[in-house]
Amino acid sequence: MTTRKRTDSAAKSGSRTQTAAASNGAGSPYDVRLDLGARSYDIVVRRGSLATIGAETAKAVGDPNGRTAVVVTNPKVELYHGKTVNQSLTDAGFRVINVSLTAGECYKTLQTVRRLYKTLHAEQIDRRGVIVALGGGVIGDVAGFAAATYNRGLDLVQVPTTLLAQVDSSVGGKTGVNYDNGKNLIGAFYQPKLVIIDPDTLRSLPIRERRSGLAEIIKYGIIYDKPFFHALEREVNGLLRLTSTRLEYAISHSCEIKARVVEQDERDEGLRAILNFGHTIGHALEAITHYRVYRHGEAIAVGMVSASLIGEELGMTQHEDTESIIRIFEDAGFAVHLGDNLAIGGLMRLLAWDKKSVDGAARFVLMESIGKVTPGHLVPEDVIRRALQRQQRL
Ligand code: NAD
Ligand code: GLY
Repeated sequence: MTTRKRTDSAAKSGSRTQTAAASNGAGSPYDVRLDLGARSYDIVVRRGSLATIGAETAKAVGDPNGRTAVVVTNPKVELYHGKTVNQSLTDAGFRVINVSLTAGECYKTLQTVRRLYKTLHAEQIDRRGVIVALGGGVIGDVAGFAAATYNRGLDLVQVPTTLLAQVDSSVGGKTGVNYDNGKNLIGAFYQPKLVIIDPDTLRSLPIRERRSGLAEIIKYGIIYDKPFFHALEREVNGLLRLTSTRLEYAISHSCEIKARVVEQDERDEGLRAILNFGHTIGHALEAITHYRVYRHGEAIAVGMVSASLIGEELGMTQHEDTESIIRIFEDAGFAVHLGDNLAIGGLMRLLAWDKKSVDGAARFVLMESIGKVTPGHLVPEDVIRRALQRQQRL
């Protein structure tokens, strides 16, 4: 990978690649600024930044005097990283309380949010309270939703500790919980005041979780930046093992692409849908296997290959591009074929139920070429079925 630079698409759209370093005269060259007017914030990407969270938070939310930082996490993350975060916030002058929630997608519920509300109420947290979401995407989504709703909104600092959360869920302001069978059905757009990404936290993360996040990094190359995709072709193993010198760059550049998209379509009314490349089949796969078989990124990787094959069926995607996508995922250790035992019929039924489907045709983001995708394609059932059958034979 070469040096960090403005992407072509960003340049075309006229948006800025403004780093936090540039905006405040400090920080690392990998910091990113997400520009949403009064709701703008810095995404700090720096090794060791966990130990500076107190000072960074004070800079982002104002004087810590008389303010409580509520660190929301889970037992495992607390064990590895809780002490550093607590110490830094305390040193900066915040009163700190900790809430440890049970880990897992099945706890991404209103009940968990209610537990959090109960603590906030018992601790008499007022509008000056700051929620610090320390953990993966589940913690970020739950704590973010509580921050959005308690007392009509508390300041939120996202401190993602999984690769997936670092490159995706902590950035862009989507918060929420699952309801009944509906993934993320209850939620709010609520931007954090700051995102602190410390790549060193990934050392304690199991390799399977790292791989899950890597799928989202590869996704950014596919949807937005062809040179980045080709650079990743050479780096996937180093990134997975955290030996690549380009780890911070890969995280930062992913955040930057997401920031540029969110700046143009914060409320997901058009362009932001491109971030969902691979998600139509990916989500259905997660749901049909009850969130027990695939990590999110693993399912999305399968879904990205499905979307490429569907694009091919429609004459929109070149076979060589599908092959490059399959190759990069296989090199990174993903299984992107669909097992023979997976009932395509079951997947098709789920797709038909999807809220974005129309008359049995499901909505897809499809690829014109690596680096360029377009959202909103309604794909007939027989085309999807043909592509999935091909994916079973991979
Ligand atoms: P996760 O939050 O379940 O975390 C995975 C596991 O990693 C957990 O067991 C957690 O305890 C552990 N963990 C976290 N950090 C660790 C560390 N540093 N060391 C050791 N273990 C650690 O999973 P995830 O993949 O981070 O997030 C998935 C969730 O994110 C899903 O609910 C998905 O819907 C959501 N999501 C949200 C958005 C958004 O824009 N809000 C985007 C993508 C995904
Ligand atoms: N992860 C998709 C989005 O933030 O819109």
